[in-house]
Amino acid sequence: MKKKVNVGIIGCGIIAPSHVSGYLKSGMANVVALCDKKTEKAKALAERFNLSGVKIYSDYEQLLQDPEIDAVSICTPHYLHAEMTTKAAEYKKHVLCEKPMAISLKQADEMIRACKKNGVKLEIVFQYRFTPDTRKIKEEFENGKFGIPIYGEAVVKWYREDSSYYYADETARSWRGKWSTEGGGALINQSIHTIDLLQWIMGPVDYLYAIYDTRTHNIEVEDLAVATLKFKNGALGTILGSVALRPQENWLGIYGSKKSVIVGSDLKIVKQWEEEGKSKVIDEVKEKEETLTPSVGHDGVIEDFLRSIVEDKTPYVTGEEGRKALEIVLAIYKAHKTGSKVSFPLVE
Ligand SMILES: NC(=O)c1ccc[n+]([C@@H]2O[C@H](COP(=O)([O-])OP(=O)(O)OC[C@H]3O[C@@H](n4cnc5c(N)ncnc54)[C@H](O)[C@@H]3O)[C@@H](O)[C@H]2O)c1
Repeated sequence: MKKKVNVGIIGCGIIAPSHVSGYLKSGMANVVALCDKKTEKAKALAERFNLSGVKIYSDYEQLLQDPEIDAVSICTPHYLHAEMTTKAAEYKKHVLCEKPMAISLKQADEMIRACKKNGVKLEIVFQYRFTPDTRKIKEEFENGKFGIPIYGEAVVKWYREDSSYYYADETARSWRGKWSTEGGGALINQSIHTIDLLQWIMGPVDYLYAIYDTRTHNIEVEDLAVATLKFKNGALGTILGSVALRPQENWLGIYGSKKSVIVGSDLKIVKQWEEEGKSKVIDEVKEKEETLTPSVGHDGVIEDFLRSIVEDKTPYVTGEEGRKALEIVLAIYKAHKTGSKVSFPLVE
């Protein structure tokens, strides 16, 4: 039997349980260490999953020095991802890093370089890429089933409450809503998943125009942004990202001359049209007042990460892949700040 991968989790906040649960379910990993600068959060996570014997650290570098650990999940605030990933690579630990991989392209490049140099895997958590419908669309688009690419849209009308999200407690207050620590707002944090799907399917962006604003939240960063895009394949696109809009709904639309699909918030195709005049409504996009959370879990990306280590293969969402949506988000910020068209590749 193959040795299980020994994993450490760095950052034990909201998303960490999805990582622990994914590792435990995979049957390919042991969760051997948890780290949070607030050790009570690491202890609570250990208790929640009954992880007896798990090592608790408050200093992530001490966790990285632990020779028992093969791989780490980085589940800390955005501004720490680059520093922690680079350090982990230096200690020869494979890295599964939460989105966004970083808050600048310079940081992203440094992470990619450090992992390559030290011969460790780097995978970014874009779990929306691991569902049957999104995979099918990607494959059909690449095989020409959509015909001439016409238009793609990422619409993320989400809402986050100031009091329960940005100012929930000291941890949330300390990094959310600030350029220096969150790196942006609705786009870099929430909408980046759908932006990633848009570019993953439609391909690279040629140029874009954009504006954003902070309409209702007591935060530095944007709570609403709109962008218009030209893809390298000639199609046009739009991105709407928000944490200020209700009713909440989100979808991804991919439109071609022979086929079009709309993917709803559960990442399933809810409407589609195909040549031969067939128009099919699979399910209506439902209005939901409750907070929309990622409707797909981390299990797929975690299994892929573990397989990449055990079978020594390239992860599905490499650092280079994770960088692409970040580049679009940062280009939108630049377009707003400069008031002009931004062409790709983005120069920061
Ligand atoms: N993939 C997804 O769908 C998804 C969903 C939610 C969050 N996330 C991402 O996960 C990451 C964490 O988000 P969250 O909502 O769990 O945040 P959070 O604030 O709830 O948790 C972050 C944790 O990191 C700890 N921390 C901060 N600095 C540290 C340090 N120097 N050393 C050790 N621990 C430290 C904090 O104490 C906190 O417990 C972010 O990148 C976020 O974008 C991804």
